[in-house]
Amino acid sequence: MAQGALPGFRDFYPTEFAQRAYIARIWRDVARRYAFVEYDGPPLEPLELYTRKSGDEIVAQLYNFTDKGGREVALRPEMTPTLARMVAARANALRKPVRWFSLPQLFRYERQQKGRLREHFQLNVDIIGESGVTADAELLAVAIDIMREFGLSPDDVRARVSDRRLLRALLERLGVGDEQLPAVFGIIDKIERQPREVSVEKLSALGVSSESADSLFSLMDGLTLDALRARFGDTPAIAERIADLERYYTYLADLGVAEWVQLDLSIVRGLAYYTGIVFELFDARGEFRAICGGGRYDNLLKSLGGVDLPALGFGMGDVVLGELLRARGLSDVPIGEPDFWVAAAEDGDLRDVMLAATQLRRAGASVEYALRPQTLSKQRKAAFSAGATYFITVGADFAERGSVQVDEVQHVEGAGASLVDRLEEMPKTLASIIALVRDV
Ligand code: HAM
Repeated sequence: MAQGALPGFRDFYPTEFAQRAYIARIWRDVARRYAFVEYDGPPLEPLELYTRKSGDEIVAQLYNFTDKGGREVALRPEMTPTLARMVAARANALRKPVRWFSLPQLFRYERQQKGRLREHFQLNVDIIGESGVTADAELLAVAIDIMREFGLSPDDVRARVSDRRLLRALLERLGVGDEQLPAVFGIIDKIERQPREVSVEKLSALGVSSESADSLFSLMDGLTLDALRARFGDTPAIAERIADLERYYTYLADLGVAEWVQLDLSIVRGLAYYTGIVFELFDARGEFRAICGGGRYDNLLKSLGGVDLPALGFGMGDVVLGELLRARGLSDVPIGEPDFWVAAAEDGDLRDVMLAATQLRRAGASVEYALRPQTLSKQRKAAFSAGATYFITVGADFAERGSVQVDEVQHVEGAGASLVDRLEEMPKTLASIIALVRDV
C-alpha cells in the first residue's frame, strides 16, 4: 500500500507548490525592496546551538539525534541561532547594519493542529548592528508591507506590539521580582489561550498577590501609551520606555504602516532571547494563530558568538499565512500552465511541431505538444486540460512559409491575453508570433 507523508509533513502537489512558490516570491520581492540580502545556513546544526538559548519550549520540540560520528545534532527548529552564529563568526568583515533575509524550512516536533505542522517554511528578516528604534520600525514595516502585497488590509491583519523592557518595569512596579520574571512572562504569553482562573492560580503559585494579578490583567486590556503614562509615568524607567515607543510609532507612521499597529502588552513572545520591542501579526478576526513574530534580541550574539552586537528580526511562517490567504480568497495562483500548445494539423508533421515549439521556447514562451501523433480534436482537448492559453496548428505549409493558425484556448487574464487581439491584424506566421512573444 502507498504510504502517506509523516504526520505534520506535507506533500506539495503542483497546486500546493504553486501557492508555496507564490508566497516565497512575495517574501523575496518585499525583502529586496527594503534592501535586505538573502543568505542560508545548514538545515542540521549542533544540538547545543539550541539548548543554550532558544528556551525550553523549542528545545522540547527538537528533532535531534546522534549522528554516525557520535555528534549530537538537531534539525533547525528556527533560524535565529544559525544567523547569530554566522554573523558573529564574521562580525568584523560584515557591513553594518547587517540586513539579511532567509527562507529556511524548519522542523519542530509539535502536536499537529490548525496552523501548526512539524515542518514549515519561515521567512526570516533580521537587522544586526543597530540599537535605535528606527531599526525596530523598519523591521515591522517589512512584515506589514508583505501583508499589503498579498492584498490584505489593516481590517484583515493587526500588528500587536509590546516592549519587554517596558513590561519588566511595569511588573517591577507591581512588585514582581527579577527571579519571578521569566515565569510571569511565560504566563502572560499564554494569557489569551487559557482561562483567567488558570493564569491567576499560576501567578499566585509564584507568589504574585491577587491585587498585583488584577493590576497585571488591567495592563493587558488594550491600554494606550497615554493611559500608561498617566498611571505609571512617574517611574523614570517606565517614562523612558514610553518615550521610546512614541518615537517608534512616529517612524511607523512615516513608513506608512501605523494604522496596522496596536499596543498589546500581552505579547511577550515564547522564545527566551528577546530583550526589547516584540511583536506578532494576527488576523483581525482572531481565527488563526500568529502569522509572524519577532523582536529585539540584543544579547544573543554575545552569548552565542562572543560578539556584542544589537539585533532584531522576525519569522513569518507559510502555514498560517497560507490558511489566511485561502480563507480570504487570495491564494488562487496558476500552477504554471503553458502559453502555447502546438498541434499538428491532419496534414501536419510532428517534427514541424517540434521545430515550431523549439523556436517559441527560445523566444521565452512555455510550450507543450502531444508526444505522440494524435487527431486534431484530441490535441485540442489535451491543450484545454493542460490549461494552455493559445493553440497553434502547424500544417503542410509550415515548412515552406512558416504559416500557422492561432486560436485562443482559454482566456487568461494578464500580459499574454492580448496576443490574439493583436494577431488579428498580423500575418499568421510563427515569426510574427515570436516577435510578439519577445515584445511581451
Ligand atoms: P516563532 O514565533 O517561533 O519565532 O515563529 C515565527 C512564526 O513561524 C510563527 O508566528 C508561525 O507563523 C510560524 N511557525 C512557528 N512554528 C510553526 C509550526 N510548527 N508550524 C507552522 N508554522 C510555524 C521564531 O522562530 C523566531 N526565531 C523568529 C525571529 C527571527 N526572531 C528574530 N528573528
